[in-house]
Amino acid sequence: MDDMAEPWHGTHVLVTGASGGIGGATAELFVAKGATVYLTDIDDIGGRKRALELGSRAHYRRLDVTDETGWQAVTAEMEQAGHLMNVLVNSAGTAVKAPLAHTALDQFRRMIDQHLVGTFLGLRAAAAAMTAGGSVVNISSLRGVLATAELGAYGAAKSGVRALTRVAALELAEQGIRVNSVCPGSITTEITAAPGFAADDVEAYVRSIPMQRRGAPAEVASVIAFLAGAGSSYVTGTDLLVDGGTAAGVRTPKFPTQKA
Ligand SMILES: NC(=O)c1ccc[n+]([C@@H]2O[C@H](COP(=O)([O-])OP(=O)(O)OC[C@H]3O[C@@H](n4cnc5c(N)ncnc54)[C@H](O)[C@@H]3O)[C@@H](O)[C@H]2O)c1
Repeated sequence: MDDMAEPWHGTHVLVTGASGGIGGATAELFVAKGATVYLTDIDDIGGRKRALELGSRAHYRRLDVTDETGWQAVTAEMEQAGHLMNVLVNSAGTAVKAPLAHTALDQFRRMIDQHLVGTFLGLRAAAAAMTAGGSVVNISSLRGVLATAELGAYGAAKSGVRALTRVAALELAEQGIRVNSVCPGSITTEITAAPGFAADDVEAYVRSIPMQRRGAPAEVASVIAFLAGAGSSYVTGTDLLVDGGTAAGVRTPKFPTQKA
């Protein structure tokens, strides 16, 4: 294979939440481009199956992103295998949908743990492991940009992910590590398929998206790959929305067009 066919040959990528929709599509894209990918998750069955499907450059390891020692174990294993981490994609996490008044404390803490603590531990692991520089892509959310009723705990955690992204970008730039975040809108994965998560009137919800459709995991993966790669070599500390135009502004209801 030549370098054009496999532009990521020699790159070692760690993806969290890789048994899931966005993480899985990201792992698949990086493997297709020639990278060696460590798929990590707490869903061992899904993760092992996906790694097997992706072939010999894909390795599954269990990693609960809230577990500090788990991060140390996976990064030490990569190092021992001579797989110096160049790219980290922090994609693990679920969502809690409930009004604040009906959000239990353990649900709120779960959101902070999965998204914020998980991203913090990942950034720390990357800072230690990426001795030759690299790129971290954190998955935040449109809900971390636009306040969304009933997604308070999730939105607060995802806003925090954007804040951590910028701080890490400032602190790690001299080490040659870029840190950016991707803020997906509504993407068709397990999260949005979960019972009670989708809006009651899904069609009306989809009509509210300027592009009139939900996104696919592969459409987020390609943006993650852009932020991880040489095409974004002067980009750090930024958020990239992948939301079909939702955060661009408010669309007015359709009134008859006024005559000039
Ligand atoms: N799907 C969307 O519409 C959407 C929109 C915006 C942001 N996001 C974010 O994208 C990321 C990926 O979500 P997805 O849509 O692929 O969902 P998904 O449910 O398909 O995948 C999430 C994965 O995270 C894993 N996970 C959960 N807790 C974990 C933990 N403590 N440690 C390790 N793994 C854990 C799950 O097992 C699952 O495989 C999440 O951070 C999510 O908040 C998703």
